[in-house]
Amino acid sequence: PKLYEIGKPVVTWYRENSRDLPWRRTKEPYRIWLSEIMLQQTRVEAVKEYYRRFLAALPHIHDLAQATDEELLKLWEGLGYYNRARNLRKAAQVIDSQYEGQFPADYDQIRELPGIGSYTAGAISAIAFDKAYPAVDGNVLRVVARLICLEGDIKKASTKTYVERLLKPVIPEEAASDFNQGLIELGATICGPNKEPQCQICPLATYCEAYQTGAVAVYPKVGKKKE
Ligand code: ADE
Repeated sequence: PKLYEIGKPVVTWYRENSRDLPWRRTKEPYRIWLSEIMLQQTRVEAVKEYYRRFLAALPHIHDLAQATDEELLKLWEGLGYYNRARNLRKAAQVIDSQYEGQFPADYDQIRELPGIGSYTAGAISAIAFDKAYPAVDGNVLRVVARLICLEGDIKKASTKTYVERLLKPVIPEEAASDFNQGLIELGATICGPNKEPQCQICPLATYCEAYQTGAVAVYPKVGKKKE
């Protein structure tokens, strides 16, 4: 397929069309990390205020490491999945004790922190550290599934791993952040989960196998099982 050609168009499109969001005005790994954890469970519009309040109360990793249960619960209340907040604090404590309060820049060290999977580790590595790692979430899986007419069930872990391997060599070395955020943004704003994404204005329409063959509604293939 033409997947290897999408680097430049994604980056160019993102630079001209990205929404101005609070976490896009920083490269601080702590802030990128927090935004990605919040965005995994909550819509962008709702995250904005939680994100602002959280960072006003706990501006540095060290503050998060020392937050009380009561404070943490109050800041997270309404976001759901309180375990994510607990893992955030746990990871902050690890960073405090093992990395002298400095967020690690190494992918494997990031990946090992509590609550951080391959998606979040990739997002932090790319967005905060400009490293060419993929950040494959549901949005990105959907976009790639349509681009290449992916037959695999996007709910399977093995499909996600497959897409991560496919994307890694496609990431422009000098624009890892904009490339990854561009794919996320395409999935969020143009290549949506409904049956009729806005292919007329998609910068990848000419590269898209599903669009070119009239099969957009067929992808992504979604089963019911996890593995
Ligand atoms: N969803 C996941 N990550 C995101 C980001 N960085 N910006 C907007 N939506 C997102």
